[in-house]
Amino acid sequence: MHHHPALIAALAAAALVAAASTLSAQPAPAAPPAPQAPAPPPPAAAYPMTLGDMMNTLVQPRHAKLGLAGQAQNWPLAGYAVIEIRQAFAGIAKALPKFRGYPVGELADAALGQPLNALQDAIRLQDPKKFAVAYGQLTQGCNACHAALFHPFVVIKAPDASAFPNQKFSPGQEPDGKQP
Ligand code: HEC
Repeated sequence: MHHHPALIAALAAAALVAAASTLSAQPAPAAPPAPQAPAPPPPAAAYPMTLGDMMNTLVQPRHAKLGLAGQAQNWPLAGYAVIEIRQAFAGIAKALPKFRGYPVGELADAALGQPLNALQDAIRLQDPKKFAVAYGQLTQGCNACHAALFHPFVVIKAPDASAFPNQKFSPGQEPDGKQP
């Protein structure tokens, strides 16, 4: 028997249509009951960091680490700490432009700008004496701003010990005494 190609095509098309209509004719499976949407959790209240919080978390440890790195003449680490302090104050001034009406960014620049530049010079020159002088100026800058902004009792000083038992401040990239 000779199958006419056009007939085959028509049959195939018809079969497809039939199959489709059979499919669509089947009763749709019962939709599972829509899950009860869980009540959205109440929005978490954002905790607004105070200037004191930021000082405690962002500034104070970096000031200490800078001092420890400089005392150990670990210049790459000291240079990094200076950048971190600059970034911390830039972020603080953005997040909290005013403290009791006073401009935080401008006061920080006035108090710390020159000492931070002097620190960068000392680090570039790898000069421990210049570093110590500039670090003292930085610390005075911290305290000048505290006095100006009603916190004269928050007195910053050079660290006399590390508060970071898990970070190495001496130069070199091998952990002290733990060579692999
Ligand atoms: C723009 C002015 C300003 C500068 C610059 C500044 N501080 Fe402060 N600092 C403040 C004020 C104001 C407070 C009190 C804020 C508060 O209680 O909310 C404070 C508080 C602190 C506190 C107390 C936080 C606590 O919980 O114990 C520390 C520590 C501190 N500053 C460290 C530093 C260090 C270190 C530097 C220098 C690298 C520095 N600050 C530079 C204004 C400044």
